[in-house]
Amino acid sequence: MGIPPITSALLFIGIIVGIQAAKPYKICSLPGTEKECPQVERTGLLQCVNNYHGIDCILNIEQGKSDFGRVTPEEALVAAKFVQNVVVLGEFKSDVIGDDAIFATAVLVRHDHTNGFKGLKGKRYCHPGFRFEETVTELVLKEFENVVLKENNAEGCSNKVGSDTLLEKELKALTDFFGPSCRPGPWIDLDERNKNYYKNYSKLCELCFPNSDCTLPVGVVPFMRSLECLVNGGGDVALTTLNTIHEFFNKTENNNKQNDYRYLCRNGSVSTLDNPCVWSKQPGNLIIAHKDQADDVKTDLESWIPKNIIADRPTPYAGNSPFEGTFEKIFFPSEPEFNKIKFAFQRQSVKDYLEKYRVIPDSRSSEKCNQNIKWCTTSYEEQQKCGWLAQASLNNAIQPVLNCIQSPNKLGCLEDIKNDKADVVAADAHHGYIARKKNLAPLAYPETDNRKLINTVVVIKTSNPLKIDRFENLKTRKACIPEYGGIEWLSFINVARDRKVLSKTTCDYGELISDFVGDSCMPGAHDAEHEKSAKTHSQKLCDLCVPVPHAKTAKTCNSDDTNAYYGNVGALKCLKEAGDFAVITLNKEDYASINESEFRVLCKNGSLAINPGFNVDSECVLTTIVDSEVVSKRNSPKNNDISIILLNFERRFGTDRTKAFEVFNIFNNTVDLLFMDTTAGLAPTTSNNKNIRNYVSLFEHVDKCVIKNDDGSSAAVKATILPLILSIILLMYTNYKN
Ligand SMILES: *[C@@H]1O[C@H](CO)[C@@H](O)[C@H](O)[C@H]1NC(C)=O
Ligand SMILES: *[C@@H]1O[C@H](CO)[C@@H](O)[C@H](O)[C@H]1NC(C)=O
Ligand SMILES: *[C@@H]1O[C@H](CO)[C@@H](O)[C@H](O)[C@H]1NC(C)=O
Ligand SMILES: *[C@@H]1O[C@H](CO)[C@@H](O)[C@H](O)[C@H]1NC(C)=O
Ligand SMILES: *[C@@H]1O[C@H](CO)[C@@H](O)[C@H](O)[C@H]1NC(C)=O
Ligand SMILES: *[C@@H]1O[C@H](CO)[C@@H](O)[C@H](O)[C@H]1NC(C)=O
Repeated sequence: MGIPPITSALLFIGIIVGIQAAKPYKICSLPGTEKECPQVERTGLLQCVNNYHGIDCILNIEQGKSDFGRVTPEEALVAAKFVQNVVVLGEFKSDVIGDDAIFATAVLVRHDHTNGFKGLKGKRYCHPGFRFEETVTELVLKEFENVVLKENNAEGCSNKVGSDTLLEKELKALTDFFGPSCRPGPWIDLDERNKNYYKNYSKLCELCFPNSDCTLPVGVVPFMRSLECLVNGGGDVALTTLNTIHEFFNKTENNNKQNDYRYLCRNGSVSTLDNPCVWSKQPGNLIIAHKDQADDVKTDLESWIPKNIIADRPTPYAGNSPFEGTFEKIFFPSEPEFNKIKFAFQRQSVKDYLEKYRVIPDSRSSEKCNQNIKWCTTSYEEQQKCGWLAQASLNNAIQPVLNCIQSPNKLGCLEDIKNDKADVVAADAHHGYIARKKNLAPLAYPETDNRKLINTVVVIKTSNPLKIDRFENLKTRKACIPEYGGIEWLSFINVARDRKVLSKTTCDYGELISDFVGDSCMPGAHDAEHEKSAKTHSQKLCDLCVPVPHAKTAKTCNSDDTNAYYGNVGALKCLKEAGDFAVITLNKEDYASINESEFRVLCKNGSLAINPGFNVDSECVLTTIVDSEVVSKRNSPKNNDISIILLNFERRFGTDRTKAFEVFNIFNNTVDLLFMDTTAGLAPTTSNNKNIRNYVSLFEHVDKCVIKNDDGSSAAVKATILPLILSIILLMYTNYKN
């Protein structure tokens, strides 16, 4: 064609030289593009900014750390309400899908339908089912029925159901409202429970053909099946999609049936098939950019990859891409058919753009039965991540909705849960004892990376002036313990009880430890937040503590950095300067400033470790446990609902880049928010994991003591339901992951 090769080569060089003067754009790149990035960077046009996840791309563009990138629609939906600087340039399209959406949901009713949503009472409902994985979210699949139940005031909030969860109430409400229906599962990601529900709410499966076991047969197209249920299966109302409707009624055998059906619109009105109205539309992968760069990026994309642009007018020239395919690997979606870009007519914020496709839910209007679950956070960063997680949950129709409540610190969270200001938190194992004294109990355990496990040990001075060589020798000795009620404190008491150095029957650990040791330092032993018992000799347990130099007070027992002997490093300092023994956690803190040779471990079996230092074998440690637990109020009526939320976190937001949001991963460059980033997943309280079993047995006696003192007898009955659900729910997931 037109331009001779020489000229085109010159033109090509010209482009490179011309743009090299400008700064390269920073493009979002995901893992798996390590080979291509150096190649595109050689052109001087682009520079990769590595991201773990599409959400990072949005956050980076928002802060000007990246200029443009591609995100999935679900990622964009999570972020839409939180970002201001990000605009949508356009969408990736395939040649096949001419329509402006990947799909658009629509509701069909019979032509004689009257009285809008009210007229649906007792009608036979045809639903595509829930086996869609990530492509069609539950919110889209539940949007119609949620509106129907709400409009009819039929949400069934006061219904009594076996599991006492919103999920089951919803099933009961649908069963009570509609006539015999076909709404295939899975309703919950839990086979056993699903089967029970299919039995108990079988009316929702009655209309399913050919088998009424409520699962979708393999190979069946869900939205076609729901439409066939309406037309050929005796249904009255069907949730399907626009394309499915077109395809179905375009068949010769169905052509004459068009007049028998109407669209039921979101506002409750009906319209004929030649006048469609849709509910939610699904966009494709989006091209997003910082608002200041958007126009330049668009112009350059048009010149770099003209063949991939769906143009309104012919492109000025169709030269070769300067990237020879590498750029496409970084930028284009993994489905090869989505290789065309359609630019939007105007620059719009992510929110404005997506609102043309669907309603982005907010927590207030999504709250069912006035219920929500309050997750406790302790920092601005954590509160932000929680907010994004809450939006991701809304977008997936997870009920109850999640709210985020900020407390000043971790103990404050436990206190807030005790006082019903918050419902749940992933708490540090360090505070396990205090949590139980506040009447909280675990719902699940985050599975901890082996390197982050907690190992506690008793240490003495290598010089050993008191000739300590067994646990019995520690009686009346000066103890240095990082924090009153902490994990070191508890694991010491636990082993001492096992070795019968301490009474096995007493529940008052404060009294036990006070009677055993001499003057000591156990920061926090004086304050109520640490749940010290009435018989704790606070003065004795605080006596050894000293304030840091230049502190305002002469005496301290604070559990913070004003106390020179607070924490693990503090406890070792205490041992060196004033104490006889210390109990510390081996791997949680940085001991770089400590000369380990000055200390020797007293092993769990009572003999001294062979060598000084902290490098001891696993038999020497008091216990090895996971580093955190998800806790809520013991016997809270919300616990079953919280368990469902946890199941959903694992299922929908577990560590996986294809998920819209990752709850166990770094967020906005900050680690360990909401959960430790080392969390692989959640395990049930009944897990067989050794470090979880250790944890449970560490707290066995404390639990017995707390329950004995608990005067709520009804609570004790409820407690039997929860572990059952959880053990099934979470065990399945543990197996599923392995
Ligand atoms: C199903 O219903 C029966 C009787 O109504 C009840 O005992 C059982 O707990 C229910 N099962 C579930 C999973 O809700
Ligand atoms: C209906 O079928 C005809 C011929 O098969 C086709 O040309 C037309 O595009 C179809 N219409 C729709 C809406 O699918
Ligand atoms: C309801 O919505 C449809 C489609 O969006 C529209 O055509 C119709 O005018 C609306 N009806 C009312 C009463 O608002
Ligand atoms: C991300 O971090 C930056 C600073 O590090 C902060 O300004 C911004 O508000 C954070 N964004 C979110 C959503 O947390
Ligand atoms: C560490 O302590 C040991 C034993 O007290 C001592 O021999 C050694 O010199 C110390 N090392 C340092 C670097 O202070
Ligand atoms: C105690 O355990 C340590 C570490 O495993 C071992 O070296 C030592 O022999 C044991 N002592 C006794 C008395 O069993």
